[in-house]
Amino acid sequence: MLGSVIPSSRFLVRRTLEPIDWSRADVIVEYGPGLGTCTAEILRRMRPNARLVVFETHPDFVRHLTETYRDPRLEVIHDSAEEVESVLKDRGLGGADYVLSGIPFSLMPGEVRDRILERTRSVLNTGGAMLVYQFSPRIGTHLKRVFDDVDWSFEPLNVLPATVFCCQVAG
Ligand SMILES: C[S@@+](CC[C@H](N)C(=O)[O-])C[C@H]1O[C@@H](n2cnc3c(N)ncnc32)[C@H](O)[C@@H]1O
Repeated sequence: MLGSVIPSSRFLVRRTLEPIDWSRADVIVEYGPGLGTCTAEILRRMRPNARLVVFETHPDFVRHLTETYRDPRLEVIHDSAEEVESVLKDRGLGGADYVLSGIPFSLMPGEVRDRILERTRSVLNTGGAMLVYQFSPRIGTHLKRVFDDVDWSFEPLNVLPATVFCCQVAG
């Protein structure tokens, strides 16, 4: 379920984060941060009072993230992205403005993929977006089924070239 063992390049991180309006990003969620390449850049750019909740299933990455990024705005959840609704609700966070995802959708069962996409849509605030980077573009079909508007671009400057999707929920 790793997808790739090589961290995302700075080019891919920059392209994935490009649609974010940091002035309205109060709650940001990340799925599958791994070693935290995107996490570090989000923490660098996000406002001082914003919150970042990351979901990671691999215990070694959870330990690394917890020990490396000691930032009060960050919470590392050792659980699957499938739990996004209950985790945000338990913390009194009404919804997310942006959900960033690096989890390998093409390697997981279809029902898990669909559950994650549906639950992500349900937690996104109006005007919010899910930002997805994938080494296989096949997820595009499923994203279009769930989201109102799906835009995509290609980042060749990564060890595995990646497609980046920006999926919006209409206002
Ligand atoms: C391709 S790596 C992404 C690495 C990192 N985001 C980067 O930019 O280099 C995919 C990560 O997703 C995690 N993962 C896989 N399935 C998951 C799930 N259902 N929920 C949360 N994390 C998951 C894996 O443990 C792995 O760390």
